[in-house]
Formats: sequence, C-alpha cells, structure tokens
Amino acid sequence: MSKRLQDKVAVITGAASGIGKGCANVLAAEGATIAICDINPNVTTVGRAITSEHDVPVEAVITDVRSSTEVARFVENTIAQFGKIDILINNAGIWRATPITDSYEKVLDDFEAIVTTNLKGVFQVGRSVIPHMVEAGSGEIINIATDHIVPPHGFATGGGSRMDVYDASKWGTRGLTESWAKALKPHKIRVNALGMDATDSAMVRYASGQEPSPEILERWMKPEQIGELAVELILEGPEGRTGEHIGIWLDHEICLPDRKEELPSRHP
Ligand SMILES: NC(=O)c1ccc[n+]([C@@H]2O[C@H](COP(=O)([O-])OP(=O)(O)OC[C@H]3O[C@@H](n4cnc5c(N)ncnc54)[C@H](O)[C@@H]3O)[C@@H](O)[C@H]2O)c1
Repeated sequence: MSKRLQDKVAVITGAASGIGKGCANVLAAEGATIAICDINPNVTTVGRAITSEHDVPVEAVITDVRSSTEVARFVENTIAQFGKIDILINNAGIWRATPITDSYEKVLDDFEAIVTTNLKGVFQVGRSVIPHMVEAGSGEIINIATDHIVPPHGFATGGGSRMDVYDASKWGTRGLTESWAKALKPHKIRVNALGMDATDSAMVRYASGQEPSPEILERWMKPEQIGELAVELILEGPEGRTGEHIGIWLDHEICLPDRKEELPSRHP
C-alpha cells in the first residue's frame, strides 16, 4: 500500500482505545509519524504496538486534556521530538447519562466532568497546537463530534432524553470548529468535524448498557472506518473543504459528502 501520509506528523488525543486508537493505527499505516496521548496509562502500550506494527516513530504520553499544563507539555514534547504538527485529531472524550430526573448535585458533577473533557480539552489542545500550524502555514484539524449534532437528512438533532450535557459539549466543539475554520483559513489550516453514529468502543458499549449481541456488533461501525474517512478528509489538502460537520451514520455509506458551499460571514 502506498503511504500517503509519509511526511506528516499527526497528534491524536484519547488514543488508548476506541476511535482514537483506530485513527492512530490507520494514520500510522499511511506512514504518518504519530504523537498520541491519553489519561489512561495504557496509551504507552498502544504506542509500542503501533511502532512495531507499522514501523513509524510514535510518541505516547499519559496526558489529561483537562489540564492546560499537561497539554502544553505534550504539545511541546511533540514539537521537540518531531519538529512540527501537520494533523490534529481532537478525539478524547467521555460520556455520562444525565436524565432530567437526576439530582442537581449529580448533574453539576457530570457537567464539570463532561464539559471540561469534551469542550475545554478540545479547546486547550487546539489552542496549543494552532500556533505551530500557523507558523508552518498549513495544518489539518479534525474535531470528533457526534451524529447527535449532525443527523441524517430528515432527522432532528439531539441524542435522546439523557444527553443534554454531552450534546451541549459537542455543540460547543461545533462552535470551535466553525470559528477556527474561519480564523485559520488565511493560514491555510483546515478545520472540520466528524460526527459519528454508534462506533464500537468502550464508550458505546457502556452507553448501550448491555453486552452487544453479534448482530449489534456487526451493525456498529469500526474505529478504523472512522480513521479511513479521516485520512480521505486530510488528503483533500489545503484547497479542500473547511468548517464542515460530516455525519457518519449506521446503514449509510461511509464516505465524504459533496462539499458544502462556504457562506460569507456577517462579522469580521
Ligand atoms: N463510539 C461512538 O459511538 C461515538 C459516537 C459519537 C462520538 N464519539 C466520540 O468519539 C470520541 C472517542 O470515544 P470512543 O467512542 O472511542 O470511546 P473510548 O472511551 O474508547 O475512547 C475515549 C478515550 O478518551 C480518553 N480520555 C477520556 N478522558 C480523557 C482526558 N481527560 N484526557 C485524555 N484522554 C481522555 C479515554 O481514556 C479513552 O481512551 C469521543 O469524543 C466521543 O464523544 C463516539
């Protein structure tokens, strides 16, 4: 297989498992140098496995994306080791059920945990990486969202009745994706989001509340399929789309949709 990301350095957060790990493996198979982080110490084992399977340089660092200090250390280490960051997949995230009947005390705790990880984490990693991309005059940022904010045609947004906080965190990342896309276009940095439906991971197994049957497992998407779509998006290059939220749904073809028209902004 040709290595289409041979000279690229990719940062992927939350890569000890699930979609992040799947993306890291697919990008490594395309020849990219990989810098991964996760709060789960298993990230270092994942890093060693990627190096030995794909024969690419890998940096794997235990990092909590909620901590600005740890994020800065991870990003600066990556620059010190590899000299640049071409690609950022902002993936680390958590999910907790927050039904409307929950106590206020519980959901305050949930809000802090979910929003600090899913929104502040994306913000901190993005804002730490962006200056290096601006200096280089190029970059690809993919924020991992959810199909809840980008449903198939004919369906309402929203993930159901126990997702207010999770969905709010992902709508927040949608704001970052759109704002960064606009601000970074003059610097030839593209920012898009992938919003997937059920994809086999620890999170979706936990959220579904039961051991999935073989039929359900068969139907769920695989993390590597998300990684393959991320590669297609990255390979569009500097003239490709920016500011888009791309839905990836069960029982639909997994592919990039037609490019959307870029609308003019009413504000500077
Ligand atoms: N699996 C799905 O069906 C699905 C659907 C839509 C969106 N997503 C999104 O995909 C992303 C990845 O989730 P996943 O499904 O692979 O689940 P996962 O639980 O397998 O992976 C999430 C990873 O993020 C890490 N993480 C959590 N908090 C962190 C922190 N503070 N700092 C660093 N790392 C942290 C976890 O340790 C884990 O390795 C999340 O943003 C999630 O919201 C998943």
